[in-house]
Amino acid sequence: MKTLGVGLLGLGTVGAGVAEVLTRHADRVAARAGARLEIVRAAVHDPALFRGRGVPDDRLTDDAASVVAHPEVDLVVEVMGGLDPAHGLVRAALDAGRPVVSANKALLAERGQDLFEAAEARGVELRFEASVAGGIPVLLSLRDGLAANRIESIYGILNGTCNYILTRMEQERRPFDAVLAEAQASGYAEANPSTDIDGIDTAHKAVVLAALAYGKLVPFAELPIEGIRRITLADLDFARELGYAAKLLAVVRESADGEIEIRVEPTFVHGDHMLASVSGVFNAVKIHGDVVGDTFYHGRGAGREPTASAVVSDLIRVARGRLHPEIRPEPLHVAPGVLMPRDEWVSRAYLRVALLDQPGSLSKAAGTLGAHGISIASFIQKESTGNGFASVVFLTHPATERALGQALASLEALPEVDGPPVRIRIEDEPETEE
Ligand code: NDP
Ligand code: HSE
Repeated sequence: MKTLGVGLLGLGTVGAGVAEVLTRHADRVAARAGARLEIVRAAVHDPALFRGRGVPDDRLTDDAASVVAHPEVDLVVEVMGGLDPAHGLVRAALDAGRPVVSANKALLAERGQDLFEAAEARGVELRFEASVAGGIPVLLSLRDGLAANRIESIYGILNGTCNYILTRMEQERRPFDAVLAEAQASGYAEANPSTDIDGIDTAHKAVVLAALAYGKLVPFAELPIEGIRRITLADLDFARELGYAAKLLAVVRESADGEIEIRVEPTFVHGDHMLASVSGVFNAVKIHGDVVGDTFYHGRGAGREPTASAVVSDLIRVARGRLHPEIRPEPLHVAPGVLMPRDEWVSRAYLRVALLDQPGSLSKAAGTLGAHGISIASFIQKESTGNGFASVVFLTHPATERALGQALASLEALPEVDGPPVRIRIEDEPETEE
């Protein structure tokens, strides 16, 4: 049987998992790929630290460019992360006609246009299943399994760290900072957790999902992104009382005029929604296709083995295409996309207002919402706890972001309102046809 050489850029959490799976499942992988896959070069910063860790010592190098250029490397796996030098290395591999498998959602979301165009122009495969939802084959589903559909919407819980923190806050009634500190101590959250908890990681993945679903890569820098830092126990308690769960949700859609709507923000998801029960570090994605209806994908979105599962599966696919160019899929065509302006988003909202407990306050607040065309679906008021202000929560009917923003500014300006109102978006289960 033929052997194809693999060049591994990075031997950290994911790279080590890939090396391990290629060894453990060598025969299975060979049978499925039609060739044995052998790591012939692996790049790390300091090869001395990686001796005896799954890749023969003489195949380790600190010169990543030499991996891509090595004459025995047929397929390149980029699991080093970051934008540079990963971008130049992936581009060099594609230019040299070498298929690339990458797990790097930051690279694809922020520099993907250049890479998609290079891959398409040269007819070289660029696969990146692991970049979204780790081990869940959601990109393959979008590209192949749902190919007959127009994708109406994608809803995703795409960051395990955030979902773990929100789940523990809800279950244990402990505040964000305490749960984050514990997640860091137990290794679930990074020492610098900003990429996860500020929503950047979720936004990278949402942009990649949109590229697959609609063939459009939106400018990442223009995305409004909000993470989970401002979620409080008070809001989680109200959510529970109203039948909702808090999730860092990514919503991806295409408007009738071809603009891409991408929202990444904490969202109250109704308890009946498939995503509401996704707890802990798990990821889940719900895709609605116009032909198939709702489809749902659930599993582990990160970690050494789940991510290696996706990378090695991609490797098998690109190996087959390398051996049999006639079965290689049509190259992915991705063009620059335009984001729908945030002002035009339409959704329901949860609004929590600290309202002076005196005659007329409630009617003034409700009147302010009405004056901006915002209709109240329901509300709850909790008695003042001695400071003279009652907590009032309004759930609105759908309204544009523009109207909501103006209404919030007017509410905050009322003398009866203490501090800025809290606003959290609501997603109810969309109506689906039988
Ligand atoms: P790690 O930091 O654990 O590993 C990165 C590896 O790349 C290390 O071996 C590092 O070497 C090497 N490396 C980085 N830069 C260079 C360089 N310039 N030259 C040589 N070697 C270099 O990252 P992960 O494995 O966690 O993540 C890799 C990619 O996979 C990222 O894009 C990440 O977003 C993505 N991903 C990760 C998931 C996960 O669960 N971890 C899940 C899904 C995607 P050294 O150790 O010597 O510094
Ligand atoms: N840090 C990510 C998470 C995993 O917590 O889900 C990498 O995609």
